[in-house]
Amino acid sequence: MKDEIGIGIVGFGTVGSGAATILFRNAELIARRVGSSLRVKRIVDRDVTSDRGLALPEGVLGTDLQALMQDASIDIVVELVGGCEVAKRIMLDAIDAGKHVVTANKALLATHGEEVFAAAHRAGVDVGFEASVGGGIPIIQSLTGGLAANRCVSLVGILNGTSNYILTRMKCEGQDFQEALAHAQAAGYAEADPAFDIEGVDAAHKLAIMVSLAYGTPVTMQDIYTEGIQRLTALDIRYASELGMTVKLLGVAKHHGESIEARVHPTMIDSTAPLARVDGVYNAIHVVGDAVGDVMLYGQGAGSLPTGSAVVSDVMDIARNVRQGVRGRVPPTSFHMDCRTPVRIRPMEAVTARYYLRCMVPDQPGVLSRIAGILGDHAIGIASVLQQARREGQTVPVVIMTHRASERAVQTALRTINGLASLVSEPVTLIRVEDQEP
Ligand code: NDP
Ligand code: HSE
Repeated sequence: MKDEIGIGIVGFGTVGSGAATILFRNAELIARRVGSSLRVKRIVDRDVTSDRGLALPEGVLGTDLQALMQDASIDIVVELVGGCEVAKRIMLDAIDAGKHVVTANKALLATHGEEVFAAAHRAGVDVGFEASVGGGIPIIQSLTGGLAANRCVSLVGILNGTSNYILTRMKCEGQDFQEALAHAQAAGYAEADPAFDIEGVDAAHKLAIMVSLAYGTPVTMQDIYTEGIQRLTALDIRYASELGMTVKLLGVAKHHGESIEARVHPTMIDSTAPLARVDGVYNAIHVVGDAVGDVMLYGQGAGSLPTGSAVVSDVMDIARNVRQGVRGRVPPTSFHMDCRTPVRIRPMEAVTARYYLRCMVPDQPGVLSRIAGILGDHAIGIASVLQQARREGQTVPVVIMTHRASERAVQTALRTINGLASLVSEPVTLIRVEDQEP
């Protein structure tokens, strides 16, 4: 049994410094839980002068990645630089050097996960990636462990802390989009390129990872319909409130026997639903299993210490394996590599939902009935209409809530409506409504 497990960390930014802080601050507790000491041997970053709020022992922080890779006393390499190409090289080099690897990098796993997992499998090393989804929430261990006996009926979650922070600030404080984003960046929640957060890409990366673990199927980013919050307006958020709804950026996966639906987009949910009350940087994931029923996981979805907590949990899990001399006990794909079967992902146009449609129309008689007629021609039923007081000669918003309809029908009807300048002064705003809340 090894008394000491050596750790190397590459990337000493928001998450790297959080993970290192926990490894030093809780070293004794961690050693008692693992049965061996976890010793941070080296931390590599290209910036070794910035104050990270943590005093490291002499000689730990440096810029020499090769020295870290060649250090035989390092058992586990933690990749926390972000991005794809350099991060992949670091992971593969560490695996080649026979080291176990841990990462928080969902972009890397969603795009090159299969390659990394295959390399780790060949080399007989473990891969940990708890921090890649939901920040501090233990969703990966739940899907691969605690919920593994279930067929996954659905997964619905708030998966991006930055977007949720922005939406919360816009709704509760009437803050402007750009101002809320700047706060999220200053707090260390946002990606290096915040477009990943606000365009839904980061949430789609996380949904891809979860779908692949829950259903035992490889998933590519092209499989996941992705729409972000960048076009949401304060007006739509206000209308949602008037309708008793809240707008959240949701990742949704549902099992339909032969196929799975997997999509990320702004979604209206009833304001009394648990997910509607998840505010700020918090994330939540609602899993329905065929045996367990409803399970809801909730916690901080980003930030230094919450994400560091998930990173260190992986390090401890792997350290326990190293101590016992075992590896590959839980495959990173959750299903054994040779027991996975590709499952078809449903195209978005085959999805059905209720829809919020905001049309900016000239305030003239007959306009609403023409829009209703076009929707009716495509078998889209209207559940309710909200129209502001008349303003002769001006453009006014008309909000239509539909009954359940197919995405294909709605998109076709909107193409017709948007093509008629006499009906709408700008493209109709569409927000899908999710009813399947716990
Ligand atoms: P940061 O930018 O805060 O930290 C990354 C650090 O790595 C920076 O100090 C950076 O230096 C350094 N770095 C980049 N490239 C290299 C390189 N080639 N060699 C050495 N050092 C390098 O990012 P985060 O800590 O926020 O994110 C790290 C990872 O964790 C990402 O994959 C992210 O998606 C993921 N993640 C982040 C969360 C968060 O809350 N921030 C939550 C969950 C996951 P420089 O500043 O000079 O570029
Ligand atoms: N940028 C991500 C977010 C970090 O805001 O959720 C956590 O993965």
